[in-house]
Amino acid sequence: MISVAIDGPAGAGKSTLSRKTAENLGFIYVDTGALYRTVGLKFSRMGADTELKCDIEGILADTTVDIRFVDCEQRVFLDGEDVSEAIRTPSASMMASAVSAKPPVRAFLLEMQRKLARENNVVMDGRDIGTVVLPNATVKIYLTASAEDRAKRRYDELVQKGTDVTFKEVYDDMVQRDYNDMHREIAPLKQADDAILADTSGYEFEDSLALLLKIIKENTNI
Ligand code: DC
Repeated sequence: MISVAIDGPAGAGKSTLSRKTAENLGFIYVDTGALYRTVGLKFSRMGADTELKCDIEGILADTTVDIRFVDCEQRVFLDGEDVSEAIRTPSASMMASAVSAKPPVRAFLLEMQRKLARENNVVMDGRDIGTVVLPNATVKIYLTASAEDRAKRRYDELVQKGTDVTFKEVYDDMVQRDYNDMHREIAPLKQADDAILADTSGYEFEDSLALLLKIIKENTNI
């Protein structure tokens, strides 16, 4: 099986680019952030806030997260309910970042991610795919762009969906989330030693996609 690990900070275009890359290669695309968002949603529904002063293990023991592919598109299920849209709000993003710093949450989601890569050719994106989840991935890419570029992309996405936010809110949230993700003790966001850096600051989507496909083709025999 071939696995392409794509890590990087929020808003680098990871999910859109990874999806398109997978489509292009005929691989499945696994968005691991959606798994953390789903766990975050469960904790919100249990009344927790980002401080997570609750029985994390107890709640996880009573939680089922599933990932299913409908027409090659990933859907995530929380206790049997399709929450693929519900996990896309700014508050779900913050909650995802909070739960993702907790070791029992990372352990809870690890095997599911590895199994997907054992059984399928995958493009998997996240924060620790090349460093922790798939240390032997066929190709590892660290995808990034300037904070301004990333916040602008995320802001445009949210506005398009009709979300009522300001650019400053999106920018501040993003910087805070980057900080959390890079400074947590467990599986922090960082470039794996053997990952190839793809900096797409100022790139149009098509140029970023071409860059990723070029890196993948140069580093595999496909
Ligand atoms: O990629 P995203 O914005 O949907 O991710 C949501 C949060 O989940 C992000 O703040 C960090 C966390 N995450 C993680 O810790 N490890 C991953 N492999 C993917 C996401």
